[in-house]
Amino acid sequence: MRHALALSLLAAACAAASAQIAWTPIFLDGSSQVDLWTQASSGCACPNGDGDDCACCVRDGACPCGDIAPARCAQCGLEQYCANMCNITIDSRILKTKSGKTFGQIKSPSIEGPGACSYFLQPDAGQRVEIQLYRLVSVGRFNGSSCVGGWIQLGGATAVRGAAGAAETRLCGANERYTPPVVLFADHGASTLEFRITEKTVRSQFLAFFSFTSLSNTQGVGFHPRGGSRIPHTDCDWMYQDVSCRGPGTCVLASPGYPGLYPPHRRCRYLFATNSVNTRVKIIFTSILLPRNHCATDYLTLRAGNSPSAPLLASLCSERTAILEQPGPNLLLEFNSGPLVPPYDYNGFIAKLEFIERADGSAPPPTVVPASPPLAALTHHIQNVDRVAAMESNVVSNEVAANNGGGRVGCGATVRGFGPGGARSGHFDTRATGWRTQCAIHLLGAPTDVVQVSLFNYNLRLQSCRSHIEVLEGLHDFGGKGDRGDRSERGDRALLRVCGPAVREARDPSGRFLLRQAVTSKGANLTILVRRAGTQSVDEEEFVDGAFAFHDELHEGTASPDATCAATHYGLASPKHGGVSAPSHHHIFWNIEERLQCMHRFIPAANQSVTIEIQRLDRMWSAEPTGTAGAAGCRTACGDAGCECRANTPLHYHDHIALVAGDGTHLSCLCGDFQAAWLPVVVRSWTSVRLEYSVAHYTYASRGFDYAAAFSFNDDAMCGQRTYTTHSGEISSRNVSVTGSLNEFFYQQCTWVLDSNVERQLFIDISSEQDKSCGSWNITLHEWAGSGAHGEGGLAAAAGELLYTFCARHKNHTYTLPYRLNTLVIRLVALSRQQPLYRIRWRSQVVRANNRLGPPTPAPAASAGSASPHHSLAILILLSLLFSLQNQRRVLCKVLGTVQ
Ligand SMILES: *[C@@H]1O[C@H](CO)[C@@H](O)[C@H](O)[C@H]1NC(C)=O
Ligand SMILES: *[C@@H]1O[C@H](CO)[C@@H](O)[C@H](O)[C@H]1NC(C)=O
Ligand SMILES: *[C@@H]1O[C@H](CO)[C@@H](O)[C@H](O)[C@H]1NC(C)=O
Ligand SMILES: *[C@@H]1O[C@H](CO)[C@@H](O)[C@H](O)[C@H]1NC(C)=O
Ligand SMILES: *[C@@H]1O[C@H](CO)[C@@H](O)[C@H](O)[C@H]1NC(C)=O
Ligand SMILES: *[C@@H]1O[C@H](CO)[C@@H](O)[C@H](O)[C@H]1NC(C)=O
Ligand SMILES: *[C@@H]1O[C@H](CO)[C@@H](O)[C@H](O)[C@H]1NC(C)=O
Repeated sequence: MRHALALSLLAAACAAASAQIAWTPIFLDGSSQVDLWTQASSGCACPNGDGDDCACCVRDGACPCGDIAPARCAQCGLEQYCANMCNITIDSRILKTKSGKTFGQIKSPSIEGPGACSYFLQPDAGQRVEIQLYRLVSVGRFNGSSCVGGWIQLGGATAVRGAAGAAETRLCGANERYTPPVVLFADHGASTLEFRITEKTVRSQFLAFFSFTSLSNTQGVGFHPRGGSRIPHTDCDWMYQDVSCRGPGTCVLASPGYPGLYPPHRRCRYLFATNSVNTRVKIIFTSILLPRNHCATDYLTLRAGNSPSAPLLASLCSERTAILEQPGPNLLLEFNSGPLVPPYDYNGFIAKLEFIERADGSAPPPTVVPASPPLAALTHHIQNVDRVAAMESNVVSNEVAANNGGGRVGCGATVRGFGPGGARSGHFDTRATGWRTQCAIHLLGAPTDVVQVSLFNYNLRLQSCRSHIEVLEGLHDFGGKGDRGDRSERGDRALLRVCGPAVREARDPSGRFLLRQAVTSKGANLTILVRRAGTQSVDEEEFVDGAFAFHDELHEGTASPDATCAATHYGLASPKHGGVSAPSHHHIFWNIEERLQCMHRFIPAANQSVTIEIQRLDRMWSAEPTGTAGAAGCRTACGDAGCECRANTPLHYHDHIALVAGDGTHLSCLCGDFQAAWLPVVVRSWTSVRLEYSVAHYTYASRGFDYAAAFSFNDDAMCGQRTYTTHSGEISSRNVSVTGSLNEFFYQQCTWVLDSNVERQLFIDISSEQDKSCGSWNITLHEWAGSGAHGEGGLAAAAGELLYTFCARHKNHTYTLPYRLNTLVIRLVALSRQQPLYRIRWRSQVVRANNRLGPPTPAPAASAGSASPHHSLAILILLSLLFSLQNQRRVLCKVLGTVQ
């Protein structure tokens, strides 16, 4: 034992500084001692004065053991345990007082198994518990996955661990010498070192050093993370933001327990978040030491995004050092550990974090998406922005034009949204160009464009609005032609105005992006004006950065000014045929890191239907709902009544595309790995439909999935004619052309009114040759709800109490309606793979001529409560307006009276 110990001490002194594993060097003044505290086993005066052949103790901190072991010394404060160091408490403060030391040795008694000892270690404030294990004798063995027969374990005294988890954190060995030692750190206050033998043994023992290591220890053994913040309610997750990591060395991260052995079966996530578009994250791994040949369980990954399902950028395992550099806005470093594996000669990683501004344009990521015809938007290439000369005289020079490499839009830039070299979206940053007090950025769209601008970060210092940002409709300059010099008038006209002093950072302190600060122009041209102080302050530059995008209203629909990503296509104004796809102007979505939903609404005019055909679709993913283990998937099931998204978790956890009717009915929903063979999915609708593109977890780096859909507005009078005043007539379906796709669905909601101003008996024949269920389509006959009805369904209120339901399988049926029911509402509702084919004929028996001029008598039992909620108010109003043009004013009044 003597030699082993002496060697260990030597090793400690040498290795602590150089190897990748670090530990607190523990050595005292002596050179050829008996043990840590005993200089010589005899030759000194005995403590109680009876004799002079007792042990000689080292000068510093040692006390003689006394009668129990006259030939030995121990650390002052622990001398009562000379013979049996088992089940003891070591308190840092008491030990420091008595021996002057914050470290020492634990040498277990040689116990006969089964048996157990525990050591309670109580650190002082600002200290972590460190254990250096040197020797194990008959302390169980490793069977390939865990320790059997006996073990050593360091655990937090208060940490409640499941029995299974505890078993994983054990060390064992039949006869082991560890040089360097196995190093363990505990960072949660008081800890217990447990030594347990569960099988029969003759002599089981261990030898370790302990240290109450100061967290400010500069040798790395006092490591504690810097610059980051713990993510609450997680085991070991951290967030690092650029704003809290200014200057080299301000941000440091490491595996748990660093530089000691890390705990097994952990997954620690380190999120790096930038506030600026031009910031890159540099991760300098100064040391990586993972167990050899265990790369499947012990490894590091870096992902482009803040989600574990974001694209993989790098994976590390056997590397000893590494430097990774990537653009933001979010990067996720994940550290995974498997079981503890002997010989416990690894300790995880430590890394420094730097956030660097990409000052030059030597390797720009795609900053600008070039202009391209909207329908070909999926095949764009990255080009530079066209930088037209500064517009007006007082813009001193155009430095952007000179700096041709960066593709960054700064002061004096003019970006064209069309033509060769034009750009449809991009980022701007006033820091991209040299300082100037007055800074203008001009965005010039094609005639059918509108411009969207979103501000990410800014800093304005001067009081009373002397520093300001203005986003203006049209093209302007400071005191130039487009500007009449009246600043306050211009300020009133601004789409957006930010007055100094004002500071905005894209994220809040917890790393979440703030709500968007964005505007959409009405016209094709837009100007961003920034006025700043005459000189810049070195540490507090005044600036603004953000993103812009041109939106072609003719082809991409009318932009909704308030929504992040929504457009409307009106049947009368839109081209008859067109295409929509995943948003290409992703620059303005830089600061979205949650769910992204983009919506295209299609509103057919009267006598029109709209056909939407989803032609192409990428694989769609599911985000991992927080707190749910494993990614629960979503799959698509198509039936006669459309395609459905089936998932165990709410739909917003899953990427999906849905076609939704105006009343919220899901006509079709696609998610998961939807098979290309089932495409296209087609929906033809006679009322408004929206296409919802939903990315469960959007990040700027991953950008969601792609799709392509075509739309066409068809002239389809089928649902159009609404009111008949003739006493007999016929309504029948007309065949529409079909695409022949397996998943083609028809959605119809038609309402016809049979109105008469004379008393009559009405007979209705309805027939169909289709053999379809009631669920796929049906025709219902209703009373007229009357003008007094204020049903929540709006238009549905026009249809009063249900009288009869016709389904295709009834084949042919004649309905005799109550006498004096002058006004009847007939509704057709269909969601089916086949177009409903039917014929409705009616005839009246006029009882008595009566030329009433007022509105028709409501049916006696007209009820307001039975309104069916299927109709869309918007469509009713639209239809009503059109009918009014046909001199059917009386009906219009009735309809509107009901709707209000
Ligand atoms: C130490 O404590 C444990 C648990 O309290 C006990 O089982 C064990 O016998 C004790 N060991 C000695 C040597 O007293
Ligand atoms: C190792 O021991 C554990 C605990 O006794 C047991 O569950 C496991 O199956 C054993 N593994 C092997 C490979 O024997
Ligand atoms: C945008 O500005 C250009 C250049 O001044 C001009 O030719 C064009 O008419 C403007 N467009 C609109 C819609 O005002
Ligand atoms: C709709 O079509 C019907 C029948 O073709 C026609 O009578 C009616 O005038 C059309 N309505 C409109 C608003 O065009
Ligand atoms: C309508 O289509 C059906 C089936 O496609 C066909 O049997 C029928 O003859 C067609 N009717 C007309 C009037 O074209
Ligand atoms: C009528 O058809 C619609 C659309 O397919 C369906 O939702 C509804 O349940 C059907 N009504 C009945 C009574 O079957
Ligand atoms: C439906 O029945 C009525 C009377 O029962 C008959 O006059 C009509 O021709 C039938 N229609 C069809 C399509 O069979």
